[in-house]
Amino acid sequence: MQRLDKIIADKLNITRAQAKQLIKSGEVSFNSQAVLSPDLKCSEEDEISVSGKKISSEKFVYIMMNKPKGVICASEGESEKTVIDLLPEGMRVKGLFPAGRLDKDTTGFVLITNDGEFAHNILSPKKHVKKTYLALLDKPLDKGVIMDFESGMNLGEERLLPAKLSAQNEEKTLAKVVIKQGIYHQIKRMFKKHKIEVLELKRIKIGSLSLDENLKEGESRYITQHELVQMGYDPICT
Ligand code: URA
Repeated sequence: MQRLDKIIADKLNITRAQAKQLIKSGEVSFNSQAVLSPDLKCSEEDEISVSGKKISSEKFVYIMMNKPKGVICASEGESEKTVIDLLPEGMRVKGLFPAGRLDKDTTGFVLITNDGEFAHNILSPKKHVKKTYLALLDKPLDKGVIMDFESGMNLGEERLLPAKLSAQNEEKTLAKVVIKQGIYHQIKRMFKKHKIEVLELKRIKIGSLSLDENLKEGESRYITQHELVQMGYDPICT
């Protein structure tokens, strides 16, 4: 049995004080009855709703990792190290998976969660959430490449959505790329079409949320409720 305010705080990634306030404001129901007591004891079978939306007592977590090279974006790897293996013991709850994949040699922002609906709503290719990367190239960019990226290039059989490309240094060998899809090896293949090789690739942003500069490679931290809302996802309202 757990207290109602603790379940709500855990589930919505908010503080206990915020959860208490939510309960006192009449937004919470317990087994279809309005409830105003934060200390009510609840079991896993009890049905809790916030603003009419059912929540389960399962705790959802949202983690930002700065992925190093050499680990794979998977929940389990037979012989290879996964991003889940890198999480500190205390963060490793059941059902975690990386929402969206980076190549083994790509570094940067990986979002890890156990909330399938979140992963679908925010990261499905159909939702066109922007992903921003820095790419180090073996040759400089030119206007032709930028125009091809921005007009929605043909890649094999596929016509891609327009992508943004801009040079970040004088030599034009460091590029910022913003894509709205997540096709296999997409950025490397887009440059390869122009005979440019990507030497290093790092994801620095998902939607409007930037990779925390304080995270060293291999480190992780929880994404806050405020940041989730900033990304357009509010577990209370969705
Ligand atoms: N595009 C790639 O080529 N690789 C990644 O890891 C991500 C985007």
